[in-house]
Amino acid sequence: MPGGGRMLVMSELIRLDQDTTATDPQGPQKELSGRSPDDLRNIAATVASEAADHVRGERAFAVGSSGRLDVEDTKSSDVDPVTAIDRSSENLIRIRLHELTDRGAGPDPILGEEDGGALADSGVTWVVDPVDGTVNLVYGIPASAVSIAACVDGVPVAGAVADIFHGTVYSACAGGDVVTRVDGDERVIEGTVQTSLQQLSMALVGTGFSYVSSRRRAQADLLVDLLPEIRDIRRMGSAALDLCAVATGRLDAYYEHGLGPWDYAAGTLIAARSGAVVFMPSLVSGQDEGVGILAAAPGITDELAEKVLAVTLPLSKGHP
Ligand code: IPD
Ligand code: CA
Ligand code: CA
Repeated sequence: MPGGGRMLVMSELIRLDQDTTATDPQGPQKELSGRSPDDLRNIAATVASEAADHVRGERAFAVGSSGRLDVEDTKSSDVDPVTAIDRSSENLIRIRLHELTDRGAGPDPILGEEDGGALADSGVTWVVDPVDGTVNLVYGIPASAVSIAACVDGVPVAGAVADIFHGTVYSACAGGDVVTRVDGDERVIEGTVQTSLQQLSMALVGTGFSYVSSRRRAQADLLVDLLPEIRDIRRMGSAALDLCAVATGRLDAYYEHGLGPWDYAAGTLIAARSGAVVFMPSLVSGQDEGVGILAAAPGITDELAEKVLAVTLPLSKGHP
């Protein structure tokens, strides 16, 4: 068993697909304080788009003749960078969400990767990754995004992922279409998940790796077993964009263990509303436990889930 993680009971994971993300008027809707899921999708798309413009502009301004962005700080390990732009992007997002969600009784709470916060017990909490793909942003590899999701009870009800380098904003909400926004023009996307794919051997699968080397070793062991069974693997460096790639058919599946809630809150809903099958831990679960998430074309989900979700890859104590 790669990494020696305990066996995972699949029922511990939440399944998101087109049926389970259909609007339930008795469920999350009553928690939205009079707003529809589409109102929340609009807020997420607007703010993510503004933050992506900010990040693009700031990077162009700040980058030196080396083409690299300065790293201000590190987080979980020496290779987990924080730049001034991660912080200024989150600051902008917090200000805009406060403005757009304050209906007199105070704004909705926010959980952000850089400034923290917590998921509220009731009502909407906004879960924010101000730059997903910071290493790519530092190196100038064009795969970074802003991810913003409105979440209730540990699951997303609306969300947006804004591709920083290419300008596209992907968004979705419970019961709604998946929408792309380019230069302010919105377009519904449908039929892009590869529903005819039945063979895992033909699947192009995305994944990602932790910043912590002990978990990386377990992830590598898992990959050694999987790679001979699939078409090929891609490691692009932004979990949020990987999930959008499943939604738009540029990947057949994506999995990773030990993500933070900000990495997958918006992207999982976008993939599920596109017709992918998603298994994810509740957004309240901790990263250290190393639970996996999977988004896949329906015909290969069960086989892939057996291979990648059967284990968790927890961090060892005092991890190197
Ligand atoms: C990271 C990216 C990467 C994934 C890592 C994440 P960050 O987010 O999504 O693709 O493999 O697990 O931590 O640090 O760039 O926001
Ligand atoms: Ca991230
Ligand atoms: Ca981040």
